[in-house]
Amino acid sequence: MPDAFVARSLEEIRFWSRIMKEHSLFLRLGFRCEDTTLINEANQFYSIFENIENRANQFTAGTDPNVIRKFNEEVHNAVSHIWVFKRMILQLILTCQLPGANNFPLLVDHTSREANYFRNRLAELNAGRLDPLPDAIINENVFFLRIMADHAKFISHLLDPSERKLVDQANEFSHDFDQLLYQAVDLDSMRPQSQTLPMLDQFLDQNRVSVVALRDFKKTARDLIEACRIKSIIHPLLADHVYREAEHFLEIIDMFELSLTGKKN
Ligand SMILES: [Fe+2]
Ligand SMILES: [Fe+2]
Repeated sequence: MPDAFVARSLEEIRFWSRIMKEHSLFLRLGFRCEDTTLINEANQFYSIFENIENRANQFTAGTDPNVIRKFNEEVHNAVSHIWVFKRMILQLILTCQLPGANNFPLLVDHTSREANYFRNRLAELNAGRLDPLPDAIINENVFFLRIMADHAKFISHLLDPSERKLVDQANEFSHDFDQLLYQAVDLDSMRPQSQTLPMLDQFLDQNRVSVVALRDFKKTARDLIEACRIKSIIHPLLADHVYREAEHFLEIIDMFELSLTGKKN
């Protein structure tokens, strides 16, 4: 009988350690060449999360849960450190100490929110405490809708201004997700009365439609960037990274749908 705790822990770590590794790369690319201390620190985080990712891939569903519990703690510690690093960079940017560097403050904040999310997941897994389903549905959607809205803004701002049609499309997604986020926040403040099965089901259905559209847009953008067909300063790996995060959100929505209604979408 495979251990659900082990399986869940490994899934989260495999997904998010690659994400943390890539954040280290994106942050490094945005520093100025004279910022050697920051560049070295980013490179160290890259190695740390690459190592965690490799080890997570070597463990299996049959690994001793006690080994995984210790591993979760170790990863939690590494994620706390990268969170501090990201907030320190945000501090430097917002106090204008990195003039000319190329990381948007919102992007740095965004990656720190993802680190914080990952850290909380690990703590919850080790404590064996998960939100009840109706709370999890609202909390996860509030988190991920904001992440998706940010991605649309990053894409819009990193495309070349001459790519007018694509910039328009990205801005439409940004607006769409801002609206969905506010709907989620409204549903949140109406808790627990808002947590009826039909309301939550409709909430998931509506969010899914927009996430599928955004996921497809990101996939197209990624393919166009990889084929060098459009003008932008988006690293191909960043395009793929935001695409994978949308896929991940879709998997979460589908898992909720299944738990809520017993039906696969
Ligand atoms: Fe990310
Ligand atoms: Fe993201």
